[in-house]
Amino acid sequence: MFKFKKKKKSTRTFNTILKNPVFRVVEAYKTLRTNILFSVPAVEGRSKRFMFTSANPSEGKSTTSANIAITFAQQTDVKVLLIDADLRKATLHKYFGLSAKKGLSNFLAGQDALENCIQKVPDIDNLYIMASGVLPPNPAELLAGKQMEVLFSELDKIFDVVIVDTPPVNVVADALSIVPFVDGVTMVATDNKTTYTELQDAVKALKVADARILGVVLNRARTSNYRSRQKYSNYYRSNEETSNS
Ligand SMILES: Nc1ncnc2c1ncn2[C@@H]1O[C@H](COP(=O)(O)OP(=O)(O)O)[C@@H](O)[C@H]1O
Ligand SMILES: [Mg+2]
Repeated sequence: MFKFKKKKKSTRTFNTILKNPVFRVVEAYKTLRTNILFSVPAVEGRSKRFMFTSANPSEGKSTTSANIAITFAQQTDVKVLLIDADLRKATLHKYFGLSAKKGLSNFLAGQDALENCIQKVPDIDNLYIMASGVLPPNPAELLAGKQMEVLFSELDKIFDVVIVDTPPVNVVADALSIVPFVDGVTMVATDNKTTYTELQDAVKALKVADARILGVVLNRARTSNYRSRQKYSNYYRSNEETSNS
């Protein structure tokens, strides 16, 4: 007789620096924050808007967006909004244990007021999230609609920094519709996986949309391949241990 094992529900692990604050990872996000922050001039009364995208799915766009939003919010006096504009595979709300029922799609479709579409992230001062909302049948249309202009000009009045997580450029055109509303685009690529051609295709498409590309984050980089800061991590740890003893 055959025995069928019930398929286990997959439990995804999310790598936020809140849950797992590894020294060199936290430092890498701080460096990224500094780099993107200073690559865009400050304009009075307007938030700095950064978009994250990649060539392919599952390269770490949402992980990077969530962690960079946390890193921004950890600075004092900076009010940060993280928007889940992946209206096809929304995940950001899960990183923070929040609901996706109300969010971007509801606002863009004119179903809800802005304040009903934004949630405060518990336990992190200054961090807010606009989840995807109900996944719509026409994401490309919604993201290219007039309401986008309304959205970003309203957000300017409330937030200092807006981070937008998007779908992969080589799969759907959604991210390109968001380009005109952001100050800069950061690409995420996977070490040893994303090919040069894939990245080049994505960059080409973004440039046609007039994107200002700020740089590329190399995700899942094996540290043995690169100069590691581990020794500094140990240095700080041993300092703390010494002062505590
Ligand atoms: N640097 C990393 N190390 C380990 N796991 C990662 C890393 N970056 C992403 N992941 C995992 O890979 C999966 C896809 O990442 P995600 O950020 O959702 O990709 P995308 O938004 O580009 O589709 C998630 O389960 C995430 O936790
Ligand atoms: Mg994602």
